[in-house]
Amino acid sequence: DGYETVLVERRGRTALLTLNRPKALNALNLQVMREVVAAAEALDRDPECGCIVLTGSARAFAAGADIKEMQPRGYLDMYLADWFAAWDRLGQLRTPTVAAVAGYALGGGCELAMLCDILLAADTAVFGQPEIKLGVIPGIGGSQRLTRAVGKAKAMELCLTGRTMDAAEAERAGLVSRIVPADDLVEEAMAVAETVAGMSLPVAMMAKESVARAFETTLAEGVRFERRLFHAVFATADQKEGMAAFTDKRPPVFGHR
Ligand code: HXC
Repeated sequence: DGYETVLVERRGRTALLTLNRPKALNALNLQVMREVVAAAEALDRDPECGCIVLTGSARAFAAGADIKEMQPRGYLDMYLADWFAAWDRLGQLRTPTVAAVAGYALGGGCELAMLCDILLAADTAVFGQPEIKLGVIPGIGGSQRLTRAVGKAKAMELCLTGRTMDAAEAERAGLVSRIVPADDLVEEAMAVAETVAGMSLPVAMMAKESVARAFETTLAEGVRFERRLFHAVFATADQKEGMAAFTDKRPPVFGHR
């Protein structure tokens, strides 16, 4: 695959993307953005891949956008390059994604984790949006996604003071789905991914799309959207298989077209 800043490993129907800029604590420069997005989009196009896990190192998921790369830039540079816009594509993948966060997930690192569908934290995880301390604000959706995840009070405090949250606080606040021991993080995330990848891929995509819609629309519109997809799944062989397997008291085998 020829990537320098991200390692790609396929395991059956799952894939593991590992950020690989250890000397800079996985700081997210343009190369990392291009490579992670390209690797994720290639997996997204592969119908044999049912779930993608994104992780960093034990010390840092990612310590933010690359400060040294941004430091000399001016407004026109940032605007004309539409700096960081390509990260949005990670949030638009159809394949479900899992962020497995150990160590620092700061600034762009926290935003990257929040672009994923399921967020698992090691007990060593540290989350925050410390951009304010550098004289900037979040630029990959942090002010929006953190606020939706943890509410206004905590999001305001984190974005205005730059203070960080440990894993326990992040779990209490609803930012992460659960905390696992650091040593088990990646295997646990891969187990979650394997479970998701064992489901019907189109139905998992519809479940993802439906939950994601909750962040984009009113309750009535969201419920209508869900109802349309709910009716649509009855056109799949996987619905027949899933319900037949329940009646026959056997595990389902999805993947029928
Ligand atoms: C570039 C970074 C970096 C970053 C760490 N490094 N974070 N380089 N951009 N975001 C580099 C350091 O310069 C250092 O390189 C090496 O990684 C190790 O980091 P240390 O600071 O020596 O490690 P430590 O003392 O353990 O401190 C860890 C840390 C600290 C607390 C995470 O590195 C830190 O505060 N980093 C910045 C966190 C941050 O502000 N993130 C938000 C970025 S802004 P050398 O070469 O010296 O060894 C952002 C904005 C998004 O994300 C949108 C804005 C437009």
